[in-house]
Amino acid sequence: MNQKIFIKTFGCQMNEYDSNRIYDIVKKIGFLKTDRYEEANCYLLNTCHIRDKAKEKVYHEIGRVKKIFRSKKKPLVIIAGCVAQAENQEMLKREPYIDLVIGPQSYHKINNTILNYIKIKNKIEETEFDAVSKFDYLSRIKNRSSKATSFLTIQEGCDKFCHFCVVPYTRGPEYSRPFNQILDEATHLVDSGAKEIILLGQNVNAYNYKKYKLSNLILEIEKLPNLKRIRYTTSHPNDMSADLIEVYRCSKKLMPLIHLPVQSGSNKILKLMNRKHNINEYLRTFDKLKQTNPHIEFSSDFIIGYPGEDEQDFKDTINLIKKVNFINSYSFIFSPRPGTAAENLALIDKKISMKRLEKIQSLLYENQIRANKSIENQTIDVLVENLTEDKTRAFGRSEYMTPVIFDGKEENIGKIVQVKIKKSNRNTLFGELINVSNKKVA
Ligand code: SAM
Ligand code: SF4
Ligand code: F3S
Repeated sequence: MNQKIFIKTFGCQMNEYDSNRIYDIVKKIGFLKTDRYEEANCYLLNTCHIRDKAKEKVYHEIGRVKKIFRSKKKPLVIIAGCVAQAENQEMLKREPYIDLVIGPQSYHKINNTILNYIKIKNKIEETEFDAVSKFDYLSRIKNRSSKATSFLTIQEGCDKFCHFCVVPYTRGPEYSRPFNQILDEATHLVDSGAKEIILLGQNVNAYNYKKYKLSNLILEIEKLPNLKRIRYTTSHPNDMSADLIEVYRCSKKLMPLIHLPVQSGSNKILKLMNRKHNINEYLRTFDKLKQTNPHIEFSSDFIIGYPGEDEQDFKDTINLIKKVNFINSYSFIFSPRPGTAAENLALIDKKISMKRLEKIQSLLYENQIRANKSIENQTIDVLVENLTEDKTRAFGRSEYMTPVIFDGKEENIGKIVQVKIKKSNRNTLFGELINVSNKKVA
């Protein structure tokens, strides 16, 4: 079989990782990736269910595909990811253009599912939770990513059941991959050229395999000599354990930005959300981390307009943002999700939510602009990822994940270089290359 597959990915980094792994699998039955959807024989959408808009995008996208292929042979249309898991059979009924639906824990079955469909044209959905078989299978197929920075899923699923969130239903129960399986994949990624590994999990710091925790993994992975940076995301405040905090004192490669979503600054709302942490506990963790390593900075996610949020709750969120000084954050208006505990709660006025979102975003943006401005005229380490689209400059990231654009060349890709920052805006730092760092990393 010599077929072309177009993969479009929505949602979080785990979906990006999954899309790459799906490609590693379907390559085995002769699919080659294409960036030109018009020439695809197979159109795979890896979907996200986190907010209603994300789900609607999927049906919108299929409408687009239908139009593109109106006068051509219909491609095989596969829906993967969290909408596939949540809606399964429903998708096949709502949109007959879809051929196969495959949930995140069933990717190891994708080749059989495709081959079977080609043979007998039987539309099916595969949505069993079977994380063990999936990762066993994936560990036998090498992760082919050869980018300077690569994702590596170490944990999947969630047992926390925040009342607003679909993840426990779409990704299933918390599962930690075997320690050695992860080390093997990390070694392969570094041998293939990765200089940074971003460890992924819906609750990555809840990683727990036999006696091993996330702290053990970081300290083991950082022994790989050619690896320069380690990050992990997304953490839950309750799982920020003492051993993990301690790693920020001794690790040479763990980057000092922690994405630690708090969701709201109000204890009342956190309780209603079933977050199982309060603001004092969050701030205690913040203090401990800052005391361990004063260079650490924080980013967060916020849900605005959660049912029951009043002016005082909103002010509490504003006050928390001022206290912690998050350098980068995401904020969303609450979107009721089917099957979650908060699905049918009375919503607050949409206009009020919108106003609060605007207010919070302008405060978060001010923080971001100030943080970037404070770096102007400093020389910082940048891991170079690629060239800009017009190939005239290089693109990389600071230790805090901030995009940096500077006068680098192709030969800088995959290296840590020193860049003097001349200018900044909210999202990006602009600078000049000083020299290729020959700093030793342990
Ligand atoms: N596990 C992470 C945690 O506990 O913080 C969050 C993972 S979730 C994939 C990413 C973010 O989406 C959440 O932090 C939350 O802010 C947002 N989110 C989840 N459900 C949402 C909903 N129903 N409406 C709006 N935002 C939502
Ligand atoms: Fe969703 Fe809460 Fe689990 Fe995060 S901890 S994935 S927000 S249920
Ligand atoms: Fe979306 Fe699923 Fe990730 S719902 S945010 S793709 S875990």
